[in-house]
Amino acid sequence: SEEERTERIERALDELGDDVVVLGHNYQRREIVEHADFVGDSYQLSVQAAEADAKYVVFGGVTFMAESADIITDDDQTVILPSMEASCPMAGMAEALQVDAAWERIEAAAPDDDIVPITYMNSYADLKAFCAEQGGAVCTSSNAHRVFEWALERGDKVLFLPDKHLGENTAHRLGLEDETVLWNPWDPEEQDSESVADAKIVLWDGYCQVHERFDVGHVERVREGHPDANVVVHPECRREVVEAADVVGSTATICESIAEADPGETWAVGTEIHLVEHLERWHPEVNVLPLCGDACMDCNAMRQIDPNYLTWVLEELVSGRERNVIEVAPEEKDLAMLALDRMLDL
Ligand code: 13P
Ligand code: SF4
Repeated sequence: SEEERTERIERALDELGDDVVVLGHNYQRREIVEHADFVGDSYQLSVQAAEADAKYVVFGGVTFMAESADIITDDDQTVILPSMEASCPMAGMAEALQVDAAWERIEAAAPDDDIVPITYMNSYADLKAFCAEQGGAVCTSSNAHRVFEWALERGDKVLFLPDKHLGENTAHRLGLEDETVLWNPWDPEEQDSESVADAKIVLWDGYCQVHERFDVGHVERVREGHPDANVVVHPECRREVVEAADVVGSTATICESIAEADPGETWAVGTEIHLVEHLERWHPEVNVLPLCGDACMDCNAMRQIDPNYLTWVLEELVSGRERNVIEVAPEEKDLAMLALDRMLDL
């Protein structure tokens, strides 16, 4: 039963004491979030991982987040992901080898430009390392515009990957939408090199399959049913959805909007369904609605972190066995750290 499982998790956490810290992304299930020492967005969790001095960092999140935690933490700290199946499909849309090949083509299309690559946190360590090597950095959904500004001060052009929607929304925020072009990694032969040469921002054609499913109809339907509703969405949503919303921001910004709402206000939330459910529980005084109505937007990657796996990895640690360790290759670690540091320093 859930009660027995909760007792087992608590017993293991008690036995491990200060040796373990549990981090939980906002999209994790209630049964994971309830046991986390820190719950937050990708940026906050990377800061928490850097500050953690526990021997074990158990990460309730997806592979790229655990990789970033391994990069940021000291060498004697071990990062554990309760399920090795928790991989964000968007991160898989920009593989370092494929980006390497595209980079050559983009450089050839704009030989006079200094191109600064920026990768979203939602990417694997080898791509973060590639960006560092080429003078670029990492960004998260909460600081993309600041990192874009930084990159455009250093160079003439930004290559942003993998999320075209966050890229488009950020370009718009900076007034650069007319100088933005989409790079099609699946069919590079078809790319018009003149438009790449003229652009200030080149966007990789990746997307989040959870947020891409929101459309303007969702916003219209919620406004019809609740004319007083405020609409808050994640910047991985399409441009027109962001345009139709009242507030846009990372999962931390979404949490703040609801925490700061007056009692009785209605907020429709356009993001992964588990966070919407947490907000309903955490703020019963606010009328929190899922923007998706009954069509549940559920991230399958985040869902892989089953509470039974959390129980397993913690009990194994109590028995002296380290399971599901996430370890970034040493040759990638320093460079990926550099890309993360450039972001953390901003
Ligand atoms: P945040 O950086 O807003 O937490 O988002 C991470 C993520 O995976 C969004 O889909
Ligand atoms: Fe990846 Fe989207 Fe899931 Fe976030 S919500 S982990 S971007 S698939």
